[in-house]
Amino acid sequence: MEKKVRLKDRTEILIRDMMPEDLDLSLAFFRSLPDEDRAYLRRDVAQRGAVEGRIREIRTRDVMRLVAVDDDQIVADGSLERSSEDWKKHVGEVRLIVAQPYKRKGLGRLMARELFLLAAQAKMEEILVRMMRPQKAAQSIFHRLGFRQEMVLPDYVVDRHGKKQDMIIMRCDLEALWREMEDFFATGDWERTR
Ligand SMILES: CC(C)(COP(=O)(O)OP(=O)(O)OC[C@H]1O[C@@H](n2cnc3c(N)ncnc32)[C@H](O)[C@@H]1OP(=O)(O)O)[C@@H](O)C(=O)NCCC(=O)NCCS
Repeated sequence: MEKKVRLKDRTEILIRDMMPEDLDLSLAFFRSLPDEDRAYLRRDVAQRGAVEGRIREIRTRDVMRLVAVDDDQIVADGSLERSSEDWKKHVGEVRLIVAQPYKRKGLGRLMARELFLLAAQAKMEEILVRMMRPQKAAQSIFHRLGFRQEMVLPDYVVDRHGKKQDMIIMRCDLEALWREMEDFFATGDWERTR
């Protein structure tokens, strides 16, 4: 996919599929993230090998990755992953991260919308998101989008500083999610996926 969107400050951004050629841009994006954002990521994406691994995964059917691009730089990264286990094939997991200077301009919500469209096209029924307790902005945006906190696993994961953190799992039914998003966006794309 490829789509131009406008942020709240009128900046025009291109949201598109991640491509194998994005390796250096993606590495630069992850290395530019503030420590407080990198600390809670699943993998150490400041390492070239980790970013190579993420890019290799887009060749599989179960991982879809989008990037937001401004001025030839990646400014946000979003993923939708389908479980490889048969009993969870209807569930997609979303990950989302926005570069510091682009936060609070609506880009997170715009990226989430495109990921939910991909989920609908892939006939997923539910979206799940996992985060660590200190990721307050993430809890806030997903709560605003209609997700509910489903489970907390105390001290379940370890952050980049070696500190154990609670893992929070939030979940939303895709149809319900879209009803929330209707407040912000036109529904045409969604209707076409049915
Ligand atoms: C979470 C994140 C993706 C949000 O991106 P964003 O582009 O700033 O989000 P938006 O501008 O679209 O914000 C949408 C809504 O989310 C909520 N929100 C976003 N950031 C918030 C914050 N720091 N504090 C409180 N609410 C926040 C607000 O309700 C906001 O709407 P408003 O600005 O109209 O009030 C971004 O903060 C980020 O990259 N965080 C680090 C990575 C992370 O935690 N990812 C999630 C784990 S999967």
